[in-house]
Amino acid sequence: SDNDHRTITRVTCTAPVNIAVIKYWGKRDEDLILPINSSLSVTLHQDQLKTTTTIACSRSFREDRIWLNGKEVDISHPRLQSCLREIRRLARKRRNTDNPTSEVTSVSYKVHICSENNFPTAAGLASSASGYACLVYTLSQLFGVEGELSAVARQGSGSACRSLYGGFVQWKLGERSDGKDSIAEQVESESYWPEVRVLILVVSAEQKSVGSTSGMHTSVETSHLLKYRADVVVPGRMEQMIGAIRQRNFAVFGELTMKDSNQFHATCLDTYPPIFYLNDISRKIISLVHRYNQHYGETRVAYTFDAGPNAVIYTLQEHLPEFVQVVCHFFPPEVNGAEFLRGLPVNLTPLSEELKSEINMEPTAKGIHYIISTKAGPGPCVVEDPNLHLLDADGLPKKSA
Ligand code: DP6
Repeated sequence: SDNDHRTITRVTCTAPVNIAVIKYWGKRDEDLILPINSSLSVTLHQDQLKTTTTIACSRSFREDRIWLNGKEVDISHPRLQSCLREIRRLARKRRNTDNPTSEVTSVSYKVHICSENNFPTAAGLASSASGYACLVYTLSQLFGVEGELSAVARQGSGSACRSLYGGFVQWKLGERSDGKDSIAEQVESESYWPEVRVLILVVSAEQKSVGSTSGMHTSVETSHLLKYRADVVVPGRMEQMIGAIRQRNFAVFGELTMKDSNQFHATCLDTYPPIFYLNDISRKIISLVHRYNQHYGETRVAYTFDAGPNAVIYTLQEHLPEFVQVVCHFFPPEVNGAEFLRGLPVNLTPLSEELKSEINMEPTAKGIHYIISTKAGPGPCVVEDPNLHLLDADGLPKKSA
């Protein structure tokens, strides 16, 4: 009937960002996005950082379309096409086996996709992980696909497969050439180690750095250190890291996190031509963390850096207030208060003169734009409130950028 023709189904979901403590860098298959080593990350809480995606579906839609942060973009992007194709394949498979006559949300209907982040892309925070995880999760809800979704999200962006789970997540490299065993698995949930806290230090970056995809391609082609890392170093580190998490041993967790970040950036330097992601501010943060830990004679705070100069700090709740004060003292902000320290509130306490003088660093004004304070959080969620759909009843964006 005419009514059926015009029926529009809408589903909205959210998905989190994740930050690796054992880094993924290098592919053995660039089309399927299969890595050369396993990796492990912490899923961040969606109250601070998330992607929201609405997908509408109707017999009346003439083509698949996508809007990102208010702007329509080209749907023909190969990685987008891979995710759409793989979810539709899973949906058909499920229909044929479980419910051959079912007519719920036809897989053959075209979709309208609208996605936005609650954090600025300009902050240089990876949005591809939460973005592809959210796309795949929302499609799966729309078409009633259940089960292993991480191998689909992985084909959008490698790190996206880890955003399908909350807490501490590993991406096992797998050994099959079809990638069916290159999937993400939860190591422990976010409630297992609730004392862990995360700070994102958004560093003022002048130029845009080399993207992950092209950077790791050049690294695989030219760096012998990367091959050594993947074959010899990472397997042992994955085991140690999983053990540290299970035992809630921050000293081991933190030290491995820093060493793995440093080795990743060393493989970037070993790449030819070399890739530089860290800047002067990044290096000052590294030095500050080591001086702070040195003062206490234990690893209380750990840093990690991805393909850019921003630092992500892992620490425990009990050390957070003092370390935030240390950061504010050595990187005096342009603006104070809530503008500078965003996210989960921190109870600030005065700094001791002794600690300041022992750290013995020259303060760098305005080196850090702002701080996002957060913690580990859950995986993707369905948004039930229809008012929160990003697409209207006709399947078009409610607002444009
Ligand atoms: C440094 O997942 O962005 O953040 O698979 O090519 O999309 P593609 O790369 P991407 O790489 C992430 C690299 C990293 C480390 C990590 O998240 O493990």
